[in-house]
Amino acid sequence: MPTDYDGFADAYQVENEGSLLNAYYERPAMLRFVGRVDGKDVLDIGCGAGPLAERLVDRGARVSGFDVSARMIALARRRLDGGADLRVADLADRLPYDDDSFDVACASLVLHYLEDWIEPLREIRRVLRPGGRLVASVNHPLAYALFEGRYFGVERYEARHTFAGHEATLVMWHHTLDDISTFVCDAGLRIVSLHEPPVADDTPIELLGQSGKRRFISFLFLVLDALA
Ligand SMILES: C[S@@+](CC[C@H](N)C(=O)[O-])C[C@H]1O[C@@H](n2cnc3c(N)ncnc32)[C@H](O)[C@@H]1O
Repeated sequence: MPTDYDGFADAYQVENEGSLLNAYYERPAMLRFVGRVDGKDVLDIGCGAGPLAERLVDRGARVSGFDVSARMIALARRRLDGGADLRVADLADRLPYDDDSFDVACASLVLHYLEDWIEPLREIRRVLRPGGRLVASVNHPLAYALFEGRYFGVERYEARHTFAGHEATLVMWHHTLDDISTFVCDAGLRIVSLHEPPVADDTPIELLGQSGKRRFISFLFLVLDALA
């Protein structure tokens, strides 16, 4: 059974707004790696309920976003109130944008829902202008290896999470670093840098748990350029 994003969209939005992994780790790091966006055309891929899109608009970007979940897009439209072009679309299909439409694309925590990344990455490459940039965050492949005791191979797995009291099962795909690198290069993108950042400086200490660690293996960030 595929992930029921519509079924937990409302709970996920609440969780995402204040959670360690989203609000104090993934989102601040994504915004840092994306850098200045004022006056740029930015695509938010798998935008969910729009928390990143909102920050990008606040920073002066012209933002488009899409998500496969109609409920996520309804929540994002309510949040952005006409401030971004938001559509229901599937990253596994041809994207509903012209060639060379965007300077920057962000893919926060979405690629690992796909088994095959090559066609989706080619589509992202197509809608990016030459020299444009894709910044993506994905589940760190080593996290899978540490939990499962296996690393090599493409594997489908399920993870149970509780979002704001609502239980959800996420269906995701594990890929090795080698596979990720191959997908990226085959799609006409170039790896600029890879990152495993710490949490944001303003992370409330009570969110860090007993260990108090500000750095852990959770997500991998990829900064990729579209080859001309
Ligand atoms: C973990 S959530 C992240 C949402 C948002 N990027 C954020 O950081 O708040 C993953 C999102 O990816 C979307 N998604 C999953 N598979 C997708 C696909 N094939 N095409 C478009 N969106 C997809 C889900 O609906 C969900 O909103």
